[in-house]
Amino acid sequence: MSLYSSFEPAQPDPILGLSAAFARDERPGKINLAVGVYKDSDGKTPVLSPVKEAEGRLLTKETSKGYLPMEGGAVYGELVRDLLFGSGHPVLRDGRARTAHTPGGTGALRLAADFIARHLPGRTIWMSDPTWANHPQIFHAARLQTNTYPYYDAATHGLNSGEFLSALEQIPEGDILLLHACCHNPAGADPDPETWEAIARVAAARGLVPLVDFAYQGFGEGIEADSVGLRLLAQSCPEFFVASSFSKNFGLYAERVGALTLVAANAGEADTALGHLVLGARTNYSNPPLHGSAIVCEILTDSDLRRRWEQEVADMRNRINHMRTLFVDTLAARGVSRDFSFLTREKGMFSFSGLDREQVDRLREEFAIYIVGSGRINVAGMTEDNMEPLCEAIAAVL
Ligand code: LMR
Repeated sequence: MSLYSSFEPAQPDPILGLSAAFARDERPGKINLAVGVYKDSDGKTPVLSPVKEAEGRLLTKETSKGYLPMEGGAVYGELVRDLLFGSGHPVLRDGRARTAHTPGGTGALRLAADFIARHLPGRTIWMSDPTWANHPQIFHAARLQTNTYPYYDAATHGLNSGEFLSALEQIPEGDILLLHACCHNPAGADPDPETWEAIARVAAARGLVPLVDFAYQGFGEGIEADSVGLRLLAQSCPEFFVASSFSKNFGLYAERVGALTLVAANAGEADTALGHLVLGARTNYSNPPLHGSAIVCEILTDSDLRRRWEQEVADMRNRINHMRTLFVDTLAARGVSRDFSFLTREKGMFSFSGLDREQVDRLREEFAIYIVGSGRINVAGMTEDNMEPLCEAIAAVL
């Protein structure tokens, strides 16, 4: 009997499995609104111009490809923390934050999961219903228990803050509260600042430990504005984690450049916790990949490149918002009576379209349009060119 003869075929990943199916699809005019990757008005995922320039500079000035420390470079860590909190923030001034550079945001979440499983055992990870399809998979892979709190109300297409906050009151003390910092994936509906204050208050009162997934900084309202929730949490909660990513806002998807930042009660405990955290990196990937972080450092420490990067983030954000409006208007112009205007109130790449599984399947099978089975659409995959066929197909399946 051979080694794998009894294996059933693996279930395709709910998101990346669709990318593979899309790549195999030979129909012309196919449209991919599944995986969360930004596309420009030509339907391409561009290399940002400051990234290209930074890479050119690195090519000439880089002198070594020796290993980074297990937690990554010190400058990178500092830049990550400044973007999250703003330089001079009390958490930074008091030296309570430490950062491990990780392979992408997924790497950050997995590093956190392994750390929690090993050093903070018995804590359940509470996640929004719905959440990113990979969240439960990551925590289950680390043998952690997960549970959900109510978040999105499909009837109003918005956050159900009443149910959300009262559910938080029931979470056992010490458990881990997974939150999306902005541009909720998949719902596109975020708490407003008052709700963030309330979340922070309940989390602090109940001794919950927030783990903030921050993958879309700059895609909601702005680079600074998108961290409002995180900064409000930091005012109330003494200890928490942030898993952040530069995949989207630097377009560095394939470079796998992210970070896990932990905030501790004091600087000494932060050092001790980081010491254990990096051992998790050591037994997993040893030390992080250099190239993406070198690009980020080059851009964020050069005023011209930084200004151009901020502008490109704003351009991406504005294009997504424009596509939201155009989508709603084009559906209406096609005579679709269902109200899709909620899409213009939501933020970031994703929204729930409200399309059901059968409609999603028909879009893929009959029209070569790929969206996630839950009905999540990646608005950043829409362009002026694919809008008409897209809306025509949606009108047909509705
Ligand atoms: C998504 O949700 O589509 C992105 O975060 C990409 C991924 O890895 O799933």
